[in-house]
Amino acid sequence: MKRIAVLTSGGDAPGMNSAVRAVARTGMFYNMEVYGIRSGYKGLIDNDIFKMNLSSVGDIIQRGGTFLFTARSEEFMTPEGRKKAFNNLLNEGIDGLVVIGGDGSFRGALELEKMGVKVIGVPGTIDNDIFGTEYTIGFDTAVNNVIGSIDKIRDTATSHERIFIIEVMGRNSGWIALKSGISGGAESVLIPEISPDYDLMSERIARGITRGKRHSIIIVAEGVASAYEVAEELKKRTELESRVVVLGHTQRGGAPSANDRYLSAKMGYTAVQYLREGKSGLMTALVGGEIVGITLKESVENKKDIDINDYDIAALLAI
Ligand code: F6P
Repeated sequence: MKRIAVLTSGGDAPGMNSAVRAVARTGMFYNMEVYGIRSGYKGLIDNDIFKMNLSSVGDIIQRGGTFLFTARSEEFMTPEGRKKAFNNLLNEGIDGLVVIGGDGSFRGALELEKMGVKVIGVPGTIDNDIFGTEYTIGFDTAVNNVIGSIDKIRDTATSHERIFIIEVMGRNSGWIALKSGISGGAESVLIPEISPDYDLMSERIARGITRGKRHSIIIVAEGVASAYEVAEELKKRTELESRVVVLGHTQRGGAPSANDRYLSAKMGYTAVQYLREGKSGLMTALVGGEIVGITLKESVENKKDIDINDYDIAALLAI
């Protein structure tokens, strides 16, 4: 394999830059030509492809976002769009592609593979909802961002003796809510995987106040309900007032954590090794501390569950 390309697709995630750098530098170490594709599959369709050199990826390891930019491409969903994308790769003589993104991006990669491109996926999404890998790139930083916010909110919550309802990302997945809820010491965590028990949540908050807690933090994943709705449910049951904070896209920005940079570097490096070995249709996955390859097909066809023990631990620690 002589020419490879790399793109980032779907929601950006802190650590993607470190992954791109690792792909580029590893490829160049082995005398490959490495191309960057801007704005994901959209850029592939528009032929926004450029040859990188060693310094193209200099000074990006510490930056959030993705210097290759990203997009969610409607056109790539169509056979015509995919044909254009494929032809552009063909014209550039690119025979291997590394796709850094989430499961939608991997479905796209599998379509390109059917057309004859060798593809390797690198899981990059703050949601940590990719089957087959214990962690995805960006999750650790997002959780750290949430914890940073919880800590700040706690200062003002305690000062005023207030309840705060903090909405975090996760339309279908409670990973961010659960990990930041446990790590940030939340009184209650609501996740999409378990239907919300507002009575239990309200009892727990009321009990905490009775025993003298000066603040209460409820974490709600966006897929459950809006934080404003949760505030209403609490009010109906307890008459208690609360304040709402929607963290939104602040969770996705900022410098990647050491864990995300390290994971990205190793996954990017491994992705190129797989291409060198002639492999395709694999995703780099973290399993038991090692980077291994699992098939993209298996990954996209399965749903990654939350650890139900974590849900119980979050509740237990909040008594
Ligand atoms: O998939 C990552 C994610 O940040 C989700 O947590 C969130 O639901 C979604 O993207 C938001 O998408 P957008 O940035 O397109 O609004």
